[in-house]
Parts: sequence; structure tokens; C-alpha cells
Amino acid sequence: MTTFAESAQELQVPAEIQDLLFREARTANSFSDEPVTDERVRAIYDLVKWAPTSMNTQPLRALVIRTGEARRRLLPHMAEGNRAKTGSAPLTVILAADVDFHENIPQVFPHNPGVKDMFAEESGRVEFSKLNSLLQVGYFIIGVRAAGLAAGPMTGFDAAGVDREFFGGNNWRSLVVVNVGKPGENPWFDRLPRLEFDQVVETL
Ligand SMILES: Cc1cc2nc3c(=O)[nH]c(=O)nc-3n(C[C@H](O)[C@H](O)[C@H](O)COP(=O)(O)O)c2cc1C
Repeated sequence: MTTFAESAQELQVPAEIQDLLFREARTANSFSDEPVTDERVRAIYDLVKWAPTSMNTQPLRALVIRTGEARRRLLPHMAEGNRAKTGSAPLTVILAADVDFHENIPQVFPHNPGVKDMFAEESGRVEFSKLNSLLQVGYFIIGVRAAGLAAGPMTGFDAAGVDREFFGGNNWRSLVVVNVGKPGENPWFDRLPRLEFDQVVETL
């Protein structure tokens, strides 16, 4: 069996960065009052925007919930078990798929802007945008960790309700709500076991 030290050495980034992003990073369930600045949010985006999506379409959209008023609008749509932690976070980000992502294709795929026509039907865009946005959600969580912050992703919320509340004027569909900040008191649940390589990977 490969030891932790052997595995860590196979990778290019130093072991402490591996820890920061993965081994020691945890899902936070309470947050301190320390604010998360707009500059920090922008820096996270400016890092993770480089991660790949199909045809470079980048359908992820983010609504940053910072004010008490916006948070009061969000909380009733969260599952009961997710309300207290969402109430305690200095910043919460509603991550959504933009079903009208194809409008940006001339900008993001300029060598072949005609591929926009492939996406004329909304029904095809829904699945495509969901798949790629969920990839980008993963990148975002790792970006939060790269900023030295904790993320608390949640799918326990009423997505249709959130969309009605916040996305009446566009074609965004909420996917994951993520609390962001420094951990508060008793922030962690027990660390749960991960599947081992041989349970997950087959090689032909
Ligand atoms: C997409 C997604 C949705 C999640 N939804 C919820 C949720 O609604 N409520 C909750 O308490 N935790 C939620 N979690 C947290 C996971 O249970 C947690 O990240 C996982 O058990 C790993 O925990 P750890 O980072 O502390 O090891 C969600 C995580 C992800 C990635």
C-alpha cells in the first residue's frame, strides 16, 4: 500500500498546499464574524475562472449574499438544518447555472462563434449548463480553500424558491449555496471515511 508520504511526493505542489486544499480542508458548519472582503471574492474568481469547461462556455454564475436584508430573503428557502450556519456566515454565495450561457459564445469561443447555433434549443442548454456549472462549483470550493477560507457547500435548499426570490430577471438556476468564511465555534462534523483508490479506480 502506498503511504501518505509517498503519494504526497508524487505531486508537484508542496505537501502543505495539498493539505490546505484537500487533506486538512474541511466543510465548515459555523463561521466567525470576520468579514470576507469583495477583493477576496474577486481574487477567488480570478483564480478559478481558468479551470476548464466544455467549449469554454463558463456557465456558472454567482450571487453574493452579504447584507442582512439579502440573507433574510435567503434563509426561509434553506432546509431547516442549514439555516443556523447560513445565518452565521459572513458571506454566502448562491452558485447557479446560466441557461442562456450561449449568448457569451462569441466572446469565449471567438474562433468559432457559430457554435452558438448548436444551443438554440433551451432544453439542450439546461443539462449542458448544469454539468459545466457543477464542475465550476467544485473549482470554486477549492478556490475558497486556496484563499485560506472555509467553504460550506449545501444543496439542502428549495432551488425553485431561491430562483423565484432572486432570479426573476434572468435565466439562472441555482445549484449549490456555499457559505464562506473563517470557521466559528465547533465548526466541524466528524471527518467521514473516504473510499480507497482500489475501490474507485479501475485500469485497463
Ligand atoms: C454539493 C454538496 C452539497 C452539500 N449539501 C449539504 C447540505 O445541504 N447540508 C450540510 O450540512 N452539508 C452539506 N454538504 C457537506 C458535505 O456533507 C461535506 O462536505 C462532506 O461530508 C465532507 O465533509 P468534510 O469536508 O468535513 O470532510 C454538501 C457538500 C457538497 C459538496
